Amino acid sequence: MAPPTHPRPPASLLLVVAAILSVAGLATAINSSGFKGGVTVFWGRNKDEGSLAEACDTGRYTIVVISFLDVFGHGEYHLDISGHDPSTLGADIKHCQSTALVYLSIGGFGNNYSLPTNQSAVDLADHLWYTYMAGHKEGVYRPFGDDVEIDGIDFFIEHGSPENYDVLANRLWSYNKGFRARTPAQLSATPRCRYPDRLLGKAIATGVIGRINVRFYGDSYCATHWHQEWEKWTAVYPTQDIQLYVALTASQKVAGYIHLKSLHLGVLPVLQKAESFATFAIWDRYSDRLTNYSSSIVQWT
Ligand SMILES: *[C@@H]1O[C@H](CO)[C@@H](O)[C@H](O)[C@H]1NC(C)=O
Ligand SMILES: *[C@@H]1O[C@H](CO)[C@@H](O)[C@H](O)[C@H]1NC(C)=O
Ligand SMILES: *[C@@H]1O[C@H](CO)[C@@H](O)[C@H](O)[C@H]1NC(C)=O
Ligand SMILES: *[C@@H]1O[C@H](CO)[C@@H](O)[C@H](O)[C@H]1NC(C)=O
Repeated sequence: MAPPTHPRPPASLLLVVAAILSVAGLATAINSSGFKGGVTVFWGRNKDEGSLAEACDTGRYTIVVISFLDVFGHGEYHLDISGHDPSTLGADIKHCQSTALVYLSIGGFGNNYSLPTNQSAVDLADHLWYTYMAGHKEGVYRPFGDDVEIDGIDFFIEHGSPENYDVLANRLWSYNKGFRARTPAQLSATPRCRYPDRLLGKAIATGVIGRINVRFYGDSYCATHWHQEWEKWTAVYPTQDIQLYVALTASQKVAGYIHLKSLHLGVLPVLQKAESFATFAIWDRYSDRLTNYSSSIVQWT
């Protein structure tokens, strides 16, 4: 499922204005993950965000992304979940999997990861598969428990070189070949809004990353240019073959925060014009717990 090579021309400003004025009402229900409605949330960035199980019990989330595996690429791996206890996480993951998919995100805001060689990408893929996913291998320690398998890997690359993330994506995807009825290695990416993403562009272009969380928040460029960049993403990914999620911050303190009213009346109608638009991804559980931002949004999904 390679992306089409001939992007559609961006819609004219007039069309966009018309879309805003027409306010087509509520979003259609899109069950991107097999679970109906709901949004994606990032969990693991603050000890005070509450447990993963508590997050899932809100019923708002259909994908939870544990973040981050923040060290990789030079033979060492490290999971940073802000002091949450990994040994109790396994039970929570299983609990969540009755209503949501559970992903693990790699990268983040630290500076201790990279994939200097394609072998390092292969090694990371194997590490993820055997340590957290459906791969099982004698002697490999599984911090969440031997019988706990997460559903996917999210690429959240903020630093370093773009090299070899495409190798990583292809290698992870190749694990699905042995399975008929399910896809035990699902993939998502969380790039900044600017298309193509400097660090993740090559990985996304492999076509094996099925969900893209386009970050509208986090920098002033995206706060003001999301619309023009969204047109580029939807032109390259016009159908549900690759689903576009819009990543938003639940905290007013973060750049690019969009007030719920503007989101509903101004932004959502623009997003809904794209067949590839799935739903939203919320940064992060800690903020969302404080503000309940997603409790309004889930009513539109
Ligand atoms: C949504 O769910 C329905 C039935 O529950 C299914 O037929 C359909 O394929 C699903 N769509 C997506 C995009 O997953
Ligand atoms: C990078 O991670 C490794 C393994 O966790 C650690 O030993 C090292 O001190 C870290 N380096 C930096 C600069 O943080
Ligand atoms: C890794 O690099 C080697 C040597 O450049 C190349 O032959 C091989 O195809 C690469 N593997 C992948 C998975 O790209
Ligand atoms: C958010 O929802 C929780 C649970 O429903 C509630 O206890 C809390 O007061 C709400 N917070 C805000 C800011 O609305």
